[in-house]
Amino acid sequence: MKPLHNSQPGSPPPRSRAGARRPLLTGLAAHAAAPLAAAAPPAAAPAAAAILLRADTAGPVVNPNLYGHFAEHLGRCIYEGIWVGEDSPIPNTRGIRNDVVAALKNLNIPVLRWPGGCFADEYHWRDGIGPREKRPAMINTHWGAVVETNHFGTHEFLDLCEQIGAAPYVCGNVGSGTVQEMMEWVEYMTSDADSPLANLRRANGREQPWKLPYFGVGNESWGCGGGMTPEYYAGEYRRYSTFVKNYSGNKIHRIACGANGDDYHWTEVLMKNAGPRRMDGLSLHYYTLPTGNWRAKGSATDFDEPAYIATLANTLKMDALITRHAAIMDRHDPAGKVGLIIDEWGIWTDVEPGTNPGFLYQQNSLRDAILAALNFNIFHRHAARVTMANIAQTVNVLQAMILTDKEKMLLTPTYHVFEMYKVHQGAATLPLALSTPDYECDGKKIPALSATATRAPDGKIHLSLVNTAPAAPLALTCTLAGAPAKRVTGRLLTAPAVNSINTFEAPATVAPRPFHDATLAGGTLTLTLPQKSIVTLELE
Ligand code: AHR
Repeated sequence: MKPLHNSQPGSPPPRSRAGARRPLLTGLAAHAAAPLAAAAPPAAAPAAAAILLRADTAGPVVNPNLYGHFAEHLGRCIYEGIWVGEDSPIPNTRGIRNDVVAALKNLNIPVLRWPGGCFADEYHWRDGIGPREKRPAMINTHWGAVVETNHFGTHEFLDLCEQIGAAPYVCGNVGSGTVQEMMEWVEYMTSDADSPLANLRRANGREQPWKLPYFGVGNESWGCGGGMTPEYYAGEYRRYSTFVKNYSGNKIHRIACGANGDDYHWTEVLMKNAGPRRMDGLSLHYYTLPTGNWRAKGSATDFDEPAYIATLANTLKMDALITRHAAIMDRHDPAGKVGLIIDEWGIWTDVEPGTNPGFLYQQNSLRDAILAALNFNIFHRHAARVTMANIAQTVNVLQAMILTDKEKMLLTPTYHVFEMYKVHQGAATLPLALSTPDYECDGKKIPALSATATRAPDGKIHLSLVNTAPAAPLALTCTLAGAPAKRVTGRLLTAPAVNSINTFEAPATVAPRPFHDATLAGGTLTLTLPQKSIVTLELE
């Protein structure tokens, strides 16, 4: 059974307990054009919202891989953010910084995509193996034209995956590499034979082959990965993927390069010409730009309320994108074998002033945390088809979990959403019917309430709630059908303003704290969901 959602913009505002229609969130218009500076706008009176949670009817399981990550050789993501080298004064294990590993381990990251991104289609894996001092350098032409030392290569990446407990997802080079190069890379990593390539790996210090469950055949082959048409790429995909083989019991899921946003033709051609017989996954890239304009994307921190609602409205487009790509996939693959793999998503703003434009370094605010939670709620709704998602990117690039400044490290608001939502990994989705007022500003409106619920294998129910409205709490009544819960606990993520951030001087401005304001009585949960907040509740 499909989850019920009637929270689309335009749905009627819910009735209050007295039966009268509640006005739309009040107080917002007064703040419409005001910059969202440090001070919190005064809270309006709570508006009523309601949820019917059908705990007696389980839907598809949330694939843990929806909480995947992406780390590219870009700016300070790999170098400094992850790799500092064995001789660094920053505490590290075999060159990989310990503080970052500890923070990432805490997220239960299921899968990590590497080495790109655009970088993948210029990457030649043989340059990144063997003694580091002998590895040839190259120029990272996409990202700042800086020198890439190749000190972080295959062994270092797979070591990182082992240190954080994530499955590797390697993206191969179709754009400027050969079929032979791709084939040999897979054999090098995964073969246990007494073969030249497996022996080369052994000579480089790794006796046992690695398990490599995911392999991407090119990245953005319509753009930086080769400027191909879908018809041409489908042919290339068939050729390259034929040689991405399973060695020594390793089972690779082959992931084809998918569409750029709403390019449905790309999905149609790939599904028709390559399809379920040849692929296990088809990717989709969609970035949220605050303005929707690549030339002036908007600031990560200095934005007003119209920019805030525009950003969230843009991110909610993910729902329609998935629906339409999935419908095409359903036609060609009714059995649902091919996963829709959203292996790049997140907010992309202008870089922080004064930083290298090629490094894509941006700050991260409460807005970004809300945006991440909205995307998770969407991914859960499409859990039958969307089997992996990889936020861009893990450290110091785009919507990062972690920012570093040499030896210093901070956790971003987005990190905290990944941490709060990890309870949903591997849990069964539960249908929800939502009744929500709209949050309106500047002629735009989006639902104020977004929610998702899952039942974990141990029987616990987790309900995650987002209130997008920056100044109006929601008085929420949640009817629990088929869940005789007796106890509720929760955590809340909010901050003084939607553009509140964590800094190296004040790293805990946006951090989760216990939420005690939910009560359970007679199968009904009631709470006031604070403005601009994310709450995850556990029901037992
Ligand atoms: O994540 C940054 C870049 O965005 C990636 O390299 C590329 O695939 C996409 O265009």
